[in-house]
Amino acid sequence: MSLTSTYVLNDGNKIPVVGFGTWQTPDGEIAKHSVLKALEVGYRHIDTAAAYQNEGSVGAAITESGIPRAELYITTKLANPIGTYEAAVQAIDDSLKALGTDYIDLYLIHWPTPIAFREDWATRNADCWRAMEEAVAAGKIKTIGVSNFLPHHLEKLFETATIKPAVNQIYLNPSDQQVELVAFNQKHGLLSEAYSPLGTGNILEIKALQVLADAHNKSIAQIVLRWSLQKGFLPLPKSVTDSRIFENSLLFDFELSAEEMKQIDQLQGVAGSALNPDEASF
Ligand code: A2P
Repeated sequence: MSLTSTYVLNDGNKIPVVGFGTWQTPDGEIAKHSVLKALEVGYRHIDTAAAYQNEGSVGAAITESGIPRAELYITTKLANPIGTYEAAVQAIDDSLKALGTDYIDLYLIHWPTPIAFREDWATRNADCWRAMEEAVAAGKIKTIGVSNFLPHHLEKLFETATIKPAVNQIYLNPSDQQVELVAFNQKHGLLSEAYSPLGTGNILEIKALQVLADAHNKSIAQIVLRWSLQKGFLPLPKSVTDSRIFENSLLFDFELSAEEMKQIDQLQGVAGSALNPDEASF
């Protein structure tokens, strides 16, 4: 396996098994530089979102890299204030423009129940999904999916969707393994993408992981990202630091044993957990 190895999604499209995360990456020079660095060390899958407000910088880095578009995999997401079919059509066009591309590889509904639609979220998601399906038909998007959805949000979407979601991108790391949600995703053919695979950095404070890191001559970050891969997840590590961007790409020259995987499984709850989407303040 390598950074360009792929999973096959339920629509037949392929997705590189590791993506470069950009949540909390400031727009401008920092975002552009970190994406360029990621591309330089071999990542080909970049994950952004309209809500991160850095699509323009991601797009600038992609253009500057000179890498052919077909060799790249770009994900972006429908922001929380978007609540109608018409607004979703516009949001997709806005993301295409900001990214400077004529298609998006993967487009996700970012949040199932934004505060503005907490009562009528199911209608909002169904309407936005219809716009996304039409964008697939128009060639503007290759694959569609969701993020932060729980089973009851997905079940509602299944009632109206013509195209099944291929991905559920969720907060997923040893401290919050979301076992039931991952099983639900799997049962319904959705790939579980792991954002904050390092628990936004909190996982790195867990001393027990240093023993495993030493045993493999790797860093704790590499151990945790390898755990994510061996679970069959798609980790999206974020960093704005050149050395870490490189370090997080070196995941393919070692393997965790079944016993080591079990040890990491024991870390549930030790460094924070996902927000309940139905209770978030946004
Ligand atoms: P920075 O971006 O300043 O380099 P997650 O991907 O779980 O959201 O975690 C991102 C956080 O973890 C960021 O604060 C990032 O810092 C930090 N981080 C990413 N990779 C590493 C690493 N290899 N070693 C230490 N910290 C890291």
